Amino acid sequence: MEQNQDRLKEIISHAKEYGFVFPSSEIYDGLAATYDYGQLGSELKNNIKTYWWKSMVQMHDNIVGIDAAIFMHPTTWKASGHVDAFNDPLIDNKDSKKRYRADVLLEEHIEKIRQKIYKEVEKARNRFGTEFDEAQFVATNPNVLRNQEKIESIEARMKSALESNDLEGVRQLIIDLEIVCPISGSKNWTEVRQFNLMFSTELGSVAGDAATIYLRPETAQGIFVNFLNVQKSGRLKIPFGIAQIGKAFRNEIVARQFIFRMREFEQMEMQFFVRPGQEMEWYDYWKEARIKWHKNLGLGDTMYRYHDHLKLAHYANAASDIEFNFPMGFKELEGIHSRTDFDLKQHENFSGKKLQFFDPELNQSYIPYVIETSVGLDRLFLAVLSASLKNEVLEDGSERTVLSIPAVLAPYKAAILPLIKKDGLPEKAREIHKALQLEFNVQYDEKDAIGRRYRRQDSIGTPFSITVDHETLENNTVTIRNRDTMLQQRVDVVELVNIISKEASWKSILEKL
Ligand code: GAP
Repeated sequence: MEQNQDRLKEIISHAKEYGFVFPSSEIYDGLAATYDYGQLGSELKNNIKTYWWKSMVQMHDNIVGIDAAIFMHPTTWKASGHVDAFNDPLIDNKDSKKRYRADVLLEEHIEKIRQKIYKEVEKARNRFGTEFDEAQFVATNPNVLRNQEKIESIEARMKSALESNDLEGVRQLIIDLEIVCPISGSKNWTEVRQFNLMFSTELGSVAGDAATIYLRPETAQGIFVNFLNVQKSGRLKIPFGIAQIGKAFRNEIVARQFIFRMREFEQMEMQFFVRPGQEMEWYDYWKEARIKWHKNLGLGDTMYRYHDHLKLAHYANAASDIEFNFPMGFKELEGIHSRTDFDLKQHENFSGKKLQFFDPELNQSYIPYVIETSVGLDRLFLAVLSASLKNEVLEDGSERTVLSIPAVLAPYKAAILPLIKKDGLPEKAREIHKALQLEFNVQYDEKDAIGRRYRRQDSIGTPFSITVDHETLENNTVTIRNRDTMLQQRVDVVELVNIISKEASWKSILEKL
């Protein structure tokens, strides 16, 4: 745990030092759970958005994108169920005065038991070597079976208590499992209370005339209320999707862990409208497609896992998270939800407007069912940063910090570095820089010794460093250094665009999907 905290601290400090993420309004000591993206952070964030938008919208004939307003008519949130049901169950520890989400305390307890099973399996794997049959071991080992039973029984009690809003039952489960506060170590817990997560504000300047409106807690509703506008104006046929990237706001009570849980954050969501009865097929399809999309970034296939939901949100009949192995352990990165016809039906009821699709093949109108994919942009940013930041010891014993982010996401694709600041090298380097700028975001740097400049580019994740030396002036060749291998190659300047494109162009990643 201590080690994980140190790792997270290391990422936070690197992110600040190199202009990726700053605490919001830091000169006033910051504002809890809000962050600003700096000059390199906003480049990385934009690149993540582009990867998502291009693969979801541009690469699918039947998915279109919109950009809806953050403010919406207040009835939207009554209809969507957020006014009544968008709550977190909270519990306080009376000794540390710290507040926790009760469901998270239980899930963390379950995860600890799961880790015991994992350790038991790994121990056996080491003991039996190639002979080891994991499936048989898991099905017969008494310790594994006992722990598995424990997990199932906790999950069953938790699901039943949360679904029936039995807050005393949730508390009792925490007490029965003897869960202690990680800060005080005590079991001195308060009651569990529900807390609504929406931020509200007032519309209208005349006192008494004001209406309470909400900052949207998800971008999805902007898609639902525009469902018919988009379908009709785009002449779209089911199945089709509407995608959106935008800010969402939640008054998270337990907001820790850097940009993992923020009060203002960004979502990349897609609602896929399908024929009733076909939703489970599409749910499976999108579960598979989305994990493939993540793995395509090359951060490591074992960094991801699914977590099927026990407690479903008020709108869903099936839900699964794609979890990522963050420094704090496996946590939700993206949610895939089968939202049934809940939202469109509710908006029909509350607005009195029909929100149906006429299916020419069936010759009938119906409210479509919806599969949603929803990924947190900031969480994906943290995933990329945490999987990529490495401290390496080199062959000569020296150390370097390298951010081996996927080349397509890197803020700068290449740095153009004149070896020295004279003899016409800066002029030649600027010429190359200017030409490459037409294709990629590239940086020109002539400060410090060349070794230090390489280190700086490694630290900010630039995949290529191009050095202009005296030979460049003679034969128009440069050296190009690869960030990950540190190998240098002498190439003709005219080859640079091709070399960089091979690893850093959108085509290079999209064609692998
Ligand atoms: N429209 C469905 C929806 O909003 P969610 O599981 O509550 O579902 C979707 O949120 C994704 O948004 C999450 O998987 C997570 O990546 C991101 N997210 C949610 N709350 C967040 C927060 N407070 N800070 C950062 N990201 C958050």
